[in-house]
Amino acid sequence: MVKQIDFLVIGSGIAGLSFAIKAAEKGSVCIISKVSIDETNTKYAQGGIASVMYHPDSVDKHVEDTITAGHGFCDEEVVRMVVSEAPVRIREMISMGVNFDRKSDGSYDLAREGGHTEHRILHHKDNTGEIIQRALIAKVRKNPRIKVYENHFAVDLITQHHLGEMVKRNRKDIRCFGAYVLDTNTNEVKTVLSKVTVLATGGIGNLYQTTTNPVIATGDGIAMAYRAKGVIENMEFIQFHPTSLYNPGERPSYLITEALRGFGAILRNAAGEKFMKRYDHRGSLAPRDIVARAIDTEMKVRGDDFVYLDSTHLDADELVENFPNITRKCLSLEINITRDMIPVVPAAHYLCGGVKVNMDGQSSIINLYAVGEVSSTGLHGANRLASNSLLEAVVYAHRAAVHSGRLIDKIEHNLKVPEWSIEGTSHPEEMVLVTQNYKEVQIILSNYVGIVRSDLRLERAHRRLEIIYDETEELYKKSILSRRLCELRNLINVGYLVIKMAHERHESLGLHYTIDYPKRRGSEF
Ligand code: FAD
Ligand code: SIN
Repeated sequence: MVKQIDFLVIGSGIAGLSFAIKAAEKGSVCIISKVSIDETNTKYAQGGIASVMYHPDSVDKHVEDTITAGHGFCDEEVVRMVVSEAPVRIREMISMGVNFDRKSDGSYDLAREGGHTEHRILHHKDNTGEIIQRALIAKVRKNPRIKVYENHFAVDLITQHHLGEMVKRNRKDIRCFGAYVLDTNTNEVKTVLSKVTVLATGGIGNLYQTTTNPVIATGDGIAMAYRAKGVIENMEFIQFHPTSLYNPGERPSYLITEALRGFGAILRNAAGEKFMKRYDHRGSLAPRDIVARAIDTEMKVRGDDFVYLDSTHLDADELVENFPNITRKCLSLEINITRDMIPVVPAAHYLCGGVKVNMDGQSSIINLYAVGEVSSTGLHGANRLASNSLLEAVVYAHRAAVHSGRLIDKIEHNLKVPEWSIEGTSHPEEMVLVTQNYKEVQIILSNYVGIVRSDLRLERAHRRLEIIYDETEELYKKSILSRRLCELRNLINVGYLVIKMAHERHESLGLHYTIDYPKRRGSEF
């Protein structure tokens, strides 16, 4: 089956939905989502979205905090643009029905998180993402120019390669003509021809055993863009959130928002010691890379499985009022956060790198845009400042919609694209092969490519991943497609990129820390 559309949006989180709403003013839009429309990283966001909202906060301060957290590895022009455009995008979200918390005097109740020198996080209790996701879905559902296809999995981007041409990575005229999409209800692979294709597929958390990300986060967009010979960068900068609830076996790991530390909660080790000041003068509110590494060290040195987040000294009523979901979740495990300390561990949370894009969200492939966590814009540098991710997604969704909207009438569908071939494939004999390899990829990345790295560990990870790559490619060639098999393949591709880029960086910088090169290049410290 072949379908023609103006804008194909792959992903239904904040990035994809925000783009779709704007692009619909210029043409027909099709959003595909691999499971249900609301199962996204976006839905799980707790802390909120950063924006300068009051004096004496300023664009300069937000820019400086972002660049400091990113260890100076950010693109300053991008940072200034995103931070400056934040207030107008926030007002738009509010007009779409996103209800950020206000104080009794009507002003916004702005929270503070690690690395921010001011209170500038707009939020709704501790479930900001859910509120945003709900408001955007309502807006999309009302728009007759937007069609949503749930349980539709993008398998591969279509380029000249599918017309039989040799496409090399350094070629400058690679074009995207749409995507092959697996309808997981019927197992049919559809050919979707689009004038503009947008990757809004989110992150890669499931590369690791412990992650705050839901199961959809398997790096599909990055793997597809890489296979299509697009430019990918900064994959070594994987952010581990310092405080996920220690509850072995639970997936995804439940996040304990950084806003709780902004509210006054303090990290302690099992001996009750406030250890953070030994690692950074900002204590529990130091940027995430520093806090996660400090916790990792503390746990290893002491031989503990977790550290504690202590909120027992805070006003109990205010605590419960501001963090109702965390309160409920902890109570379900018999932890009363007004009386008991919360056991926490770091968990894979966010990818700073991804598909390289310019300031309009354009990738290196013509007519292919990338927005949201899948993209690498230059905003985050070597470590993302808390609550800058939802912001980046809305700013870039807007810019990509405006940019592609201007081009759409000049682009034509490529009608020579062949339909997907199932020749030579049969049912996978044993799904256990997929499941087992998926687990092994997670073990390899968790054990060898985590918070602290070394050349030896990276080399070992590479050798082991290669074996799984060969097995999986063999399986892929002869199997009728399944979502799990494609996701495994994508995770392997993405894992390879993380290992390769980590190995090539001969220094410790932000989220990439290696014992072989413990200093930053050109630095004494
Ligand atoms: P997502 O919201 O992850 O959406 C990805 C979409 O792509 C999904 O619809 C998925 O089904 C679809 N998809 C993926 N692959 C395919 C495929 N092959 N075919 C079809 N569809 C596909 N950031 C902040 O700024 N503030 C916060 O407070 C905050 N809190 C967070 C808390 C948690 C627990 C987590 C996990 C993240 C948090 N983040 C936060 C990060 C932020 O939520 C994400 O970076 C952001 O939501 C990503 O949005 P997105 O639209 O790019 O991707
Ligand atoms: C959190 O609420 O701690 C997560 C914020 C973020 O990832 O930006």
